[in-house]
Amino acid sequence: MSEEILIAEDIVKSYREGQNKLIVLNGASLKVKKGEKVIITGPSGSGKSTLLHLLGGLQNPDSGRIIVKGMSIADLSEDRRAEVRKKYIGFVFQYHYLFSEFTALENVMIPLILSGKSEKKAREKALHLLSLMGIAERKDHRPNELSGGEAQRVQVARAIANEPEILLLDEPTGNLDHKRAISLMEILLKLNEEMGTTLCMVSHNKELEQFFDYRYSIKNGKVERED
Ligand SMILES: Nc1ncnc2c1ncn2[C@@H]1O[C@H](COP(=O)(O)OP(=O)(O)O)[C@@H](O)[C@H]1O
Ligand SMILES: [Mg+2]
Repeated sequence: MSEEILIAEDIVKSYREGQNKLIVLNGASLKVKKGEKVIITGPSGSGKSTLLHLLGGLQNPDSGRIIVKGMSIADLSEDRRAEVRKKYIGFVFQYHYLFSEFTALENVMIPLILSGKSEKKAREKALHLLSLMGIAERKDHRPNELSGGEAQRVQVARAIANEPEILLLDEPTGNLDHKRAISLMEILLKLNEEMGTTLCMVSHNKELEQFFDYRYSIKNGKVERED
């Protein structure tokens, strides 16, 4: 039986809005096994980004548990949590979080250098990843000189640089046209096939559902299995 690598257990998450409390997730549960491809859809505002941030340990739930590779992340120290994130999880954010003062190439090199690669090795690998994403010719540009779609592809290259076991993707095709969205999907599928990377993607693009093993949607704060 394959390992459950990522678990959300009965998650409640709310945001405070002045006097009011907006309950976004209300008993959301999800189990993802190693190597699975999971997509979570839902309309804008349904809590997709919130769920993904919780799964990646970037936010804390009001109640419930997130378990990554058997570790309940609320029980870890801040340092240990950061370590788990760095070691096992790649994150592609909905809005790009590239370092604005660095070039595309440098943005991809940073996680490689932080994980101990030499500058030469990091440069080689970063270049390879940018080529894989079809944006090698943009390597010396800073994020503000890239289109939304290009920045998104740099983000994916950066997220997969250290070959994470789990890739969390928040609407990674949101800024891409159909052709580029499919070509990004092909790269992700190849990564999944060749390296066994677990894919957990949120999207409102129903067209992408066909590529995934399991399809869920967020309804009334809960994660529901589709079909
Ligand atoms: N930091 C925040 N503070 C207050 N409300 C938030 C915050 N982040 C998200 N929300 C609200 O929570 C709901 C779910 O947001 P989000 O998780 O971003 O949904 P989705 O990604 O599905 O569009 C929305 O109504 C949004 O306005
Ligand atoms: Mg979102």
